[in-house]
Amino acid sequence: MTTRGDYVLGSHDAEIERLGFQHGQWRDLVHDAWRRAGIGAGQWVVDVGAGPGFAMDDLAALVGATGGVTAVERSQRYLDHLHARAARAGAGAHIAVHEHDLMLTPIPRAGSADGLHDAAWCRWVAMFVPSVPTLVERIRSTLRPGGVAVFHEYAHYRTYGAQPPRQGVTDFVEAAIASFRDSGGDPDAAGPALRALHAGGFRVREARPIVRAARPGQPLWDWPAGFIRTYVPRLRELGRVDEAWCARVLADLSAAERDPDSVLLTPMVLEIVAERRE
Ligand SMILES: C[S@@+](CC[C@H](N)C(=O)[O-])C[C@H]1O[C@@H](n2cnc3c(N)ncnc32)[C@H](O)[C@@H]1O
Repeated sequence: MTTRGDYVLGSHDAEIERLGFQHGQWRDLVHDAWRRAGIGAGQWVVDVGAGPGFAMDDLAALVGATGGVTAVERSQRYLDHLHARAARAGAGAHIAVHEHDLMLTPIPRAGSADGLHDAAWCRWVAMFVPSVPTLVERIRSTLRPGGVAVFHEYAHYRTYGAQPPRQGVTDFVEAAIASFRDSGGDPDAAGPALRALHAGGFRVREARPIVRAARPGQPLWDWPAGFIRTYVPRLRELGRVDEAWCARVLADLSAAERDPDSVLLTPMVLEIVAERRE
């Protein structure tokens, strides 16, 4: 199923559930990044490509009633979730949800006195846009000088896979990369983001790689494994692979899962904290 503004992963229920689970698995690392970046009470933060809003809720709690969150998102289905969450948060939380295509127009003004944001949070969005420099410029122009942008974007997607390698899982990763590229993005968006930040008026304060090793039976296993299980049917739906291919990938994943010694490495994320120059 594809609805208005959808990106290549889709916005069906299984994908929304996956994003929620994913956020739970990453929450501690994300809060640590926000803390080191100095995001806190009273600030105005833009959640860039907010998805269904799991991080938006956490940001709203973090900035509190004296700050606020602007959530920008293109997908209609995710916008419905964002509006519902904003309503649930109540009038005390300042959450503004905007239907917005980052490639087309500047990010809407913040609710702060000067309309600028103190911080931006951008996770797994640069990988789906056709122009990372445009995305970075959108973020720069909505931040006040000295404002921070925090990114979690992939630097080397092919880190993703089973160790010891399993052919079906390796083939899946290649098929996923090809699907992202064919839809106009590039999973390895962190490098282009660093280049665009450098050229586009930012100082990069921190860049740290994050690769995680999941073992069968651990909750984290279900993040890299769960993406394979939800994206295999999506690749089939998009007509990119056939039934036999899907069966082989899923069988190899299950074989890895039955082997207590196997490891699923997650695709390398680069955490970038960058500050807008004057
Ligand atoms: C993998 S999801 C990540 C969502 C959220 N940032 C998170 O971490 O859970 C990518 C999001 O980027 C959004 N997106 C992609 N291209 C966009 C664009 N040009 N303008 C606005 N949002 C976009 C998608 O609709 C989707 O919600």
